[in-house]
Amino acid sequence: MTNSQNIETRASVNINPNNDTPFIKEDSMKLENLPISTLVVNYHPRNMLGDIESLQGSIKRDGLQEPLLVNEVAENQYIVIDGVRRLSAVQEFGWQSVPCLIKKGMDASDAAHLSYVKNTERNSLTPIEIAHHLKAMMDEFGYTQSELELKGYGSKAKISGQLKLLELAESVQTQIQEDELTAAHGRALAKLKTNKEQERMAKQVIDGDMTAKRAEIRIDRYLEKGKDKPAETKQPLPSQDIPGVYIKDSRDMSELPNKSVHMVLSSPPYNIGMEFEKGVPFDENLDMVKGVLKECARVLVPGGIMALNIDDILNFKGRKGKNDITQMQLMGHIYQSYLRKYNIRLTDMIIWKKPTAWRKKLHQAYSDELVHTTYRMIDNFEPVYIFRKKGERDFPSEEVILRSKLTKEEYIAWVPSVWEIDTIHKKEGHPCIWPDELAHRLIKMFTYEGDTVLDPFLGSGTTVKVANELNRDGIGYEKEPQYKAVIMERLGVEPETPAEAATESMAAYAERSLNEDADSAEAEGSEGAKPAELRNPDLFDYIREHEEAVEAEESNEAVVLEQ
Ligand SMILES: C[S@@+](CC[C@H](N)C(=O)[O-])C[C@H]1O[C@@H](n2cnc3c(N)ncnc32)[C@H](O)[C@@H]1O
Repeated sequence: MTNSQNIETRASVNINPNNDTPFIKEDSMKLENLPISTLVVNYHPRNMLGDIESLQGSIKRDGLQEPLLVNEVAENQYIVIDGVRRLSAVQEFGWQSVPCLIKKGMDASDAAHLSYVKNTERNSLTPIEIAHHLKAMMDEFGYTQSELELKGYGSKAKISGQLKLLELAESVQTQIQEDELTAAHGRALAKLKTNKEQERMAKQVIDGDMTAKRAEIRIDRYLEKGKDKPAETKQPLPSQDIPGVYIKDSRDMSELPNKSVHMVLSSPPYNIGMEFEKGVPFDENLDMVKGVLKECARVLVPGGIMALNIDDILNFKGRKGKNDITQMQLMGHIYQSYLRKYNIRLTDMIIWKKPTAWRKKLHQAYSDELVHTTYRMIDNFEPVYIFRKKGERDFPSEEVILRSKLTKEEYIAWVPSVWEIDTIHKKEGHPCIWPDELAHRLIKMFTYEGDTVLDPFLGSGTTVKVANELNRDGIGYEKEPQYKAVIMERLGVEPETPAEAATESMAAYAERSLNEDADSAEAEGSEGAKPAELRNPDLFDYIREHEEAVEAEESNEAVVLEQ
């Protein structure tokens, strides 16, 4: 810099955007080279100085194009109103003085405001810097939002929206400073209560390249569902005598809206001759189950889980039941292929290991008569298939997430995929009651508190019972009215009439069933009564046909569910 130059300028400056309350009217300003040591940066709305190097490049090339604007507050003491970046650039060059336009005696709040105006003229403030400036105007200089509105900062609503950004997590504020998120994104994110929620959602917004509008819709939906009792699951729970339970065929679950269930947990009838499926041919049973699963696919949320306990058929004698050689028929892949059509994919498998049952008539105990190489395995496990629907589910609130997480002990015990869980020995009221523990682990692992868990084949009510115990909303469908009593008992619902309380006990069922088996075996001239689960109807041909059909289906595109 060459000689300092004193220039008297008559400035008629009115920098108030409203033109109504100008704080600088007629004024005289001097242009002078001031020693840098006399300049103080006191208040300045800009805290990100940006690319100083390129500014230095331009100063080197073209010289300093614009003087700093300073306010003389005492002798040889000047507060920088505008030009902090320029000051910083020339300081690094080692300049001892810098040209400044000098104002005299502005009060601090006017100086702060002028500094803001200068920066907004150049569009150089980030939304976070603007928010900090507004806050400083209120906290340090005592302005109210109404006064700021009058001063030209925009409407009160706009001001409070801008201030909201300061409620964001530091890291999210930085993302706004660095232009990864806009102020509109920030205002939407500020609706979230905790920093963790804001950070998590901000990541999703950035990763998903979401517009502010899309982010806002997502956040609103999240807030709606994240309440302790999510809105969607609060609505129409059945108003009949057993809360959450419909005694009807689940091929029609029109009571449930689309995408309103977070987990389907069920054990569809395997068609192994249980009392509730006797006389139903295999193909009819499978078609029925498919009809139910289609409804489940409709009500399941994107990202939702379907956990299905589906056993294989052990002694399969063909569709007509006449094949000489019995064989084992695996079932899981049939469901896998079918559900794929609905973008529901198999992602895991759990083996529920049951205690080994040495049943005399089914498997001989060890003896000399056993013919070597003809050994048969004892069926002491059942698979539970974990399917997931494509898409991403909404998260509940941070508190709910924390409450829902598995403990370390649970994690260590449950993540290995073989689960040893005892069966229910006294199955009163229903022939195939799940142990609560099985449902407990599955629900805890795959849902959050407040989620909705649906069992379309409710049986004795296990899923609804355990879901409710775990602070989830259990919904169940059971087509057989005869199981209403056991469901009521297990869910602690008082029966209103004695008839409702009367259900055949499992022991009575087992005895009757075995007698019936023995009678029919005798009639057929076969050796000894076989338990119901090993008497298979005519299956095999059907399965072959079904598999062919499924293969054909798989080559088609996945069906897009109706919204
Ligand atoms: C294997 S059991 C489920 C047992 C259940 N997991 C429990 O713990 O009690 C299957 C149940 O589905 C019922 N069911 C079969 N078809 C049905 C349908 N279309 N709609 C509703 N329930 C059905 C049967 O009556 C039976 O009670």
